Amino acid sequence: MNRHLISAADLSRDDALLILDTADELARMADRPIKKLPTLRGRTVVNLFFEDSTRTRISFEAAAKRLSADVINFSVKGSSVAKGESLKDTALTLEAMGADAVVIRHSASGAPQRLAGWVRGTVVNAGDGAHEHPTQALLDAFTIRERLGRLAGVNVSIIGDIAHSRVVRSNIHLLTKMKANVTVAAPPTLIPAEIEKMGVRVVHSLDEAVKGADVIMMLRIQLERQGKLSFPSLREYYNTFGLTPERLRRANSEAIIMHPGPMNRGVEIASDVADDPRRSVILEQVTNGVAVRMAVLYLIGGAHNIE
Ligand code: CP
Repeated sequence: MNRHLISAADLSRDDALLILDTADELARMADRPIKKLPTLRGRTVVNLFFEDSTRTRISFEAAAKRLSADVINFSVKGSSVAKGESLKDTALTLEAMGADAVVIRHSASGAPQRLAGWVRGTVVNAGDGAHEHPTQALLDAFTIRERLGRLAGVNVSIIGDIAHSRVVRSNIHLLTKMKANVTVAAPPTLIPAEIEKMGVRVVHSLDEAVKGADVIMMLRIQLERQGKLSFPSLREYYNTFGLTPERLRRANSEAIIMHPGPMNRGVEIASDVADDPRRSVILEQVTNGVAVRMAVLYLIGGAHNIE
C-alpha cells in the first residue's frame, strides 16, 4: 500500500477492501473495556488542521490514541502561521520535532500532495479544498457495507453541492471502484462540467435521484467555497432539493440516509429525516470513522510502512 493517503483514486480495490476489513476488526475493539492497541506506541501523529473540523479531527485523534500513538493537535489559531509562516516551514518544524505521520486539512486543493514531497513521514489527507476527503469516503463505504452487506450493485444517490464537495469526489472514486452505481443530483449550477466522465449518472431532480436508491447521501451547501449563492435562496433550495419526509416517501422503504456532516438542518435535510431512527445512519458514520481511521493509520502509517 502507498505510504501516503492523498486521494481515494490512489487506492486499489484490494487496498480499499483491506482497509474496510481491518476497520471491521478494529471496530470490535470498541466493545472491550480497554480500547487500546500498542501498534503505534512510540510514534507521533500530528493533526495539522488549517480549516475547521469537528468530526475528522477528533476522530483521527481518537484513532491515533487507541493505537497508542502520541498525538499533537495543531491548529492555525495561536500558531506562527498567523504570523505568516508557510505550510512548508510549518511541516518541517513538526517533522524536526519527530512527527511520523501528519494528518492534514487545508483549504487549498493539493496541499497534502505538496506536504508529501517535503516530509519523510506519512501524510494523510483529511480534506483539501474542494478536491478530496478520502477517509470520509472510506467510512461511508464501511457504513454502507455494514448496513447493506455489500457495495457492488448498490444504488447510491449523492444529492447537494456536488460542485464544491471534496466528499463527493472521493466517494465517486471509491464507490465506482467497488462497483456501486452512483448518481449525483443538484441544480445545474452545482454540478461540475463533465462529471459524467467519472462514471456517474447526473440528474437535476431530487425525486429522480431518490427513486430506486438504496443509499441517499445528502451534502451541505459549501457556502464558504462560493463567492455568491449559485441559486436564488436557501429557502428555494430547500423547497426543491431539501430531503423532507414527504419526498423520502417516494424512496425505497429500506433506503438509508447518510450525511458526512456538518448538517444544515432545514437547508439540505429536514430534522425529521436526519433523526429518523430507522433510516438515518449519520451518527453511525461518525462512530465508524474512528475504526476506519485506525485502520488507515495502522496500515499506512503503522509498522508496515515505517519500519
Ligand atoms: N465530515 C467532515 O469532514 O466533518 P468535519 O468538517 O466536522 O471534520
